[in-house]
Amino acid sequence: MATSVHVIGTGTIGEPLIGLICDHRKDFGIDEVIFHKRTPLKTDRSKVLDLIERRGAKLAVDEDRVDDFRDMGMAPTYIAAEAMEKAAVVIDCTPVGNKMKEDLYLDHLDNTKGFLAQGSEFGFGKMYARGINDEALVPGEDRFLHIVSCNTHNLAVILQTIAFPPENYDPLKAPKPDDITNLESARFVCIRRSNDISQDQGFMPSPTVDRHKDDRFGTHHARDLFHLYATLGVEVQSVFSSAIKLNTQYMHTVQFNVQLKNPTSLDAVRENIRCNDRLAETWKSSVNSVFSFGRDHGHFGRILNQTVFCLPSLHVSEDGKSVTGFCFTPQDGNPLLSSVSGMLWFLNPNDYQQRTQALSPYFFDEV
Ligand SMILES: NC(=O)c1ccc[n+]([C@@H]2O[C@H](COP(=O)([O-])OP(=O)(O)OC[C@H]3O[C@@H](n4cnc5c(N)ncnc54)[C@H](OP(=O)(O)O)[C@@H]3O)[C@@H](O)[C@H]2O)c1
Repeated sequence: MATSVHVIGTGTIGEPLIGLICDHRKDFGIDEVIFHKRTPLKTDRSKVLDLIERRGAKLAVDEDRVDDFRDMGMAPTYIAAEAMEKAAVVIDCTPVGNKMKEDLYLDHLDNTKGFLAQGSEFGFGKMYARGINDEALVPGEDRFLHIVSCNTHNLAVILQTIAFPPENYDPLKAPKPDDITNLESARFVCIRRSNDISQDQGFMPSPTVDRHKDDRFGTHHARDLFHLYATLGVEVQSVFSSAIKLNTQYMHTVQFNVQLKNPTSLDAVRENIRCNDRLAETWKSSVNSVFSFGRDHGHFGRILNQTVFCLPSLHVSEDGKSVTGFCFTPQDGNPLLSSVSGMLWFLNPNDYQQRTQALSPYFFDEV
């Protein structure tokens, strides 16, 4: 039987994900990529037609919108209900994944192997970030995965790189509860880009701070970090995050301070960064030049590393117990990678690691 994957939503995260899966459909063992578009808009016609005609995806729309789409020159292949029936995996890329789960996805457990939703959808399912908690995924049991936000990916990989004692450190394996014993506390400031370059709305004219809505964790980033590691039985206590939006459109930046129980050194931190193949490092210190690298060397402008460590910013205190620095977050690259990896895991947990390597041209050691 043909393997169909169904992506719902064509916005900031859905549009590049549909293209990425189409471009590597054969590597992934997928016969058909279907995408659902809710609203027929002339302003979105160019991307819908390009996804169909050049990338090879098939359009699905709600039954009562078929004529509207046709009138605008966008011919659907399926109505939404047919696409849901065919889908082996559904990847929700809307800001309403939890509602879609209640209204729709729970009725399709028989024909669909699994469902994924994106960053905002806390509670959708088991949290997942590729390379952080793959060992927490249970074949046959986990049917709903929540791909954590781009900044949560970044925070998770900072801890993975810095907080585990070097003698236990293995970037290819998930941490065990004992590995985390070197972490005293961690403090993160997520310095966010105002809006994506694909978005017309939401630009902030000046730096704007987020409220610390969470009594324990500050913002959702550290809360999600805690829950992500909890899937491995690891409790990352004393993590706290703040967030501020800057009037830039390029990338997020994260400032971190990790307090350790046992001392480390700058050389040891650099070595850990170097040997974690999910990270890139850079000697550049400006976001625009890191972003620009992606335009020339990534997949349509995106690199898929979990983060880019800014080497000139790294600092280790004299007693070796306080590590400070900055990272640049590929704001859609890391959830795109985890979405593909989660999709492939649902399709076949035994070969998803090898199949994901089709994306290796978009991982870099140095930017
Ligand atoms: N923006 C980022 O850089 C980024 C990065 C990582 C993760 N995320 C996460 O990705 C998710 C989506 O965010 P986004 O920024 O991509 O959103 P977005 O650009 O606003 O796009 C949302 C998409 O969802 C569709 N949609 C909304 N409500 C729908 C419904 N009830 N039924 C069907 N389709 C619906 C919209 O369709 P129509 O336009 O056709 O109505 C649109 O295509 C969120 O969970 C977010 O946290 C975003």
